[in-house]
Amino acid sequence: MNTSRLIYRSRQFWQAITTRSTQDDTDLVSSILSPSQIELFNLMQKSEQVHSLRVLSELRNRGAENRDLQTAALLHDVGKVRAPLRLWERVLIVIVKAFYPDCVKKWGSIPDGDTLNGLGWRRAFVVAEQHPVWGAVLASQCGTSPMAVSLIARHQDQLPPSHISESSEEDSLLRKLQAVDDIN
Ligand SMILES: [Fe+2]
Ligand SMILES: [Fe+2]
Repeated sequence: MNTSRLIYRSRQFWQAITTRSTQDDTDLVSSILSPSQIELFNLMQKSEQVHSLRVLSELRNRGAENRDLQTAALLHDVGKVRAPLRLWERVLIVIVKAFYPDCVKKWGSIPDGDTLNGLGWRRAFVVAEQHPVWGAVLASQCGTSPMAVSLIARHQDQLPPSHISESSEEDSLLRKLQAVDDIN
């Protein structure tokens, strides 16, 4: 990620923390998620809800009608409810991702059985790396389809470049999700 990309990401970040969701957004969420999924969605920070709605909106603008994909769009970052990040931690993640992406991976690993307690400054990186898996578990516990759960678990995975025709349906949906997650 270069400096112009960092500026772009900073602008997205600022929009996400200053925009509020509307009644139309609430109606849209209710038309896609079940009551227990909505409870989960509502646990997210408002800025994360706005980000998820923007991902969903962009996917719909691109003609994506797949229900599992739309569910994953709304819930892909729900794992962050396990450890909501403070503003400075979110800024730190954006900056380190921009200039030292390998460090995010290294500092974000967590040994089996470890808790978030006592991680100090590393906590933000653990959340950045681990929230896809945490979110998949939470989504699964409220009856989310296996396909949507898998999309949530894999939303940060790096897919190998390949022809669309060679992709599985899941990989094809994942590429669509990642494409809009990255720009929203
Ligand atoms: Fe995420
Ligand atoms: Fe996201």
